[in-house]
Amino acid sequence: MLITGGAGFIGTAVRRILNAVGAAPALLDNLSAYEPTTLSLLGTGPDDPQLTVGDICDETLVRDMVAQADYVIHAAAHSTVGGCATNPATHFHSNLAGTDTVLRAVAETPGVRRFVLLSTAQVYGSGDPHADPDQIRLFTEDQPVRPLNLYASAKVWAEFHTRQLLAPAGRDFTVLRPFSVYGPGQVPKPAAPSWVIAQFTMYAALGQELILNNGGRQVRDFLYRDDAAEAVTRSLLAPAASGQTLNLGTGTATSIRTVAGHVRAHFPETEVVDAPRPAQDPLGGRADITRSTSVLAWMPKVSVTEGIARYVEWVSTTPAAIPPWLREETSQSRITAWNSSAASRP
Ligand SMILES: NC(=O)c1ccc[n+]([C@@H]2O[C@H](COP(=O)([O-])OP(=O)(O)OC[C@H]3O[C@@H](n4cnc5c(N)ncnc54)[C@H](O)[C@@H]3O)[C@@H](O)[C@H]2O)c1
Repeated sequence: MLITGGAGFIGTAVRRILNAVGAAPALLDNLSAYEPTTLSLLGTGPDDPQLTVGDICDETLVRDMVAQADYVIHAAAHSTVGGCATNPATHFHSNLAGTDTVLRAVAETPGVRRFVLLSTAQVYGSGDPHADPDQIRLFTEDQPVRPLNLYASAKVWAEFHTRQLLAPAGRDFTVLRPFSVYGPGQVPKPAAPSWVIAQFTMYAALGQELILNNGGRQVRDFLYRDDAAEAVTRSLLAPAASGQTLNLGTGTATSIRTVAGHVRAHFPETEVVDAPRPAQDPLGGRADITRSTSVLAWMPKVSVTEGIARYVEWVSTTPAAIPPWLREETSQSRITAWNSSAASRP
C-alpha cells in the first residue's frame, strides 16, 4: 500500500490506523509542508523507515512505488488556498503535475486494486449563487462544483482526471471530499489563514485575541482527525465505494463564533474582537453525509466540543506545536494576511 503525502496531517493519521492493524504502508512525501519539529510531532521525519523522501513528480520513483502497491491513497498536495495563490508554480507542480504523474502510474499498474483521491469540499465553493445567502448550505456530491480558487480548481481537475485516466484503464477508484479536518497534530502553515480551530487555540494559548471576520458568522463542517482517517481507510475496501465521490464531514455546521466560544471556555481570559468580512470568504456550509455513511458504514464519533477539548489539551501539553512564526504575529498582521488571501478556507 502507498500513501502519497504520507508525512502530512491526514496521511500520518491514516498510517497510524493502518499500522495498528498490522499494515505497513509505504509513504512518499517530499517533506515540504512542515518543519522537523512538526514532523516529529506527527510521528515521522527523514528517519522514518516507512517513508521515502521524494517528489510525486519523479516519474521513475512514483512508477517504482506504485508498482509495489495494491492500494494507493493520494494525499500529497500543496494543500492551502493561500499557499496556492502566493506560489502558483509550486501549486501547479504538486497539485496538477504530481497528481498526473501518480495517476498515470496507477493507470499502467494492474496490481493496484483501488486508488483513493483526497479531493476537498472546497470544490463546492459557496454553492448555489441563487440560494438565500442567510441559509446555511447543505453540500451534496451531485450538485455542480464551483471552485473559487486555484487550490479548489486543481482538485476539480484531479477528480475528472482520476475518472478519465483510470476508468478506461480498468482501475478502481474512490474520490473523497473532506470538509474541515482538525485535531491533534495539526499545525497551521504560514501565510495560510485556514485551520481555524488550530489557529484560535494557539492564539488563545499565547494570550492573543481571536479575530472574528464578519463577526464569525461563517460556518464550517469540522471533522475530527481520527474520524476522517477512519473514513479514508474504510474507503480502501468498501465495495460500494467503487467509482464513488463521497463527502467526509459530520453533517453539522459550526459557526466560527461558536469555535471561538469553545476555545474561550478553556482560556477564559481570551479577548474576542470583530473584524470586517474579507473578500471571498464564503459563508460555508455542511456536508450531506447520507452517501458516505451508507457506502462506508461509517459515522463520525467526535463532536466539535469534544474535538476542540482534545486539541486544546494537545497544544497545552505540547507547546512545541506552536510554530515560531505564529508566535510573532499581531492582530494587525493577521487581518492583513486575511485580506490578501485569495479566497476561502478548507
Ligand atoms: N486538512 C484538511 O482539512 C483537508 C480538507 C480537505 C482536503 N484535504 C486534502 O487532504 C490531503 C491531505 O491534507 P493534509 O491536511 O494532510 O495536508 P498536509 O499539507 O498536512 O499534507 C500534504 C503532504 O503532501 C506533501 N507534499 C506536497 N507536495 C508534495 C510533492 N510534490 N511531492 C511529495 N509530497 C508532497 C507535503 O509535504 C505534506 O506532508 C490533501 O490533498 C488536502 O488537499 C485536507
